[in-house]
Amino acid sequence: MKLFIDDADIEAIKRLIDLYPIDGVTTNPTILARTGKEPKEVLSEIRTIIGEERTLFVQAVPLDAEGIIEDARKIVAYFGKNTIVKIPSIPEGFKAIRELKIEGIHTCGTIVYTPLQGYLAAKAGADYVAPYVNRIDNMGYDGITVTKKMQDIMENHGYDCTVLAASFRNSNQVLELCEYGVGAVTCATDVIDNFVKNVAIDKVVDDFVKDFEKLTGKHSMKDVL
Ligand code: G3P
Repeated sequence: MKLFIDDADIEAIKRLIDLYPIDGVTTNPTILARTGKEPKEVLSEIRTIIGEERTLFVQAVPLDAEGIIEDARKIVAYFGKNTIVKIPSIPEGFKAIRELKIEGIHTCGTIVYTPLQGYLAAKAGADYVAPYVNRIDNMGYDGITVTKKMQDIMENHGYDCTVLAASFRNSNQVLELCEYGVGAVTCATDVIDNFVKNVAIDKVVDDFVKDFEKLTGKHSMKDVL
């Protein structure tokens, strides 16, 4: 399962890229707005941090196909080949995804709330579809179930489209989708940190170091070898 950071906070991205096996960064206009910086500036900084080998997701802003396509061309020309253009999964968005597929521009159908919306984005040629798990939950539906249905549709019909589950409240939601075989998730930094945040783990980690120090008075194997 691919793991992306759903954040544009530069310091947080630097820290997570350094520590975890991260495949890239996803952004949207709201995430960019949180930084208070110019989009060009912050997205360029992110590209520099993650390098060309990791994937950057940048959202097209217009809501008409022509405008989306123009945004997409410019986004890829500016931020490089390993950039996926996020496109709202609305009728004009599907039209844009189809045309961009022909041009060889990679896309992600975003703001996906229903399995059939995901189906349309995949059939139009999107490389990714992004269901918003927690936001679906907040509407009184089950985001995990919706996402699993989307995964089933991709597999049963052989669409070359990865389900990129987004909008998580906690790591347990991620776990359930990871077990199910969903292809990718994008998470806020605290959710990723919580994959491994556990007092029981911390205690054992500390105990091992303390026991070694008690035995040898040293802090590492290299000091006793
Ligand atoms: O990638 C989509 C995502 O940013 C929405 O997440 O946490 O704002 O519901 P959230």
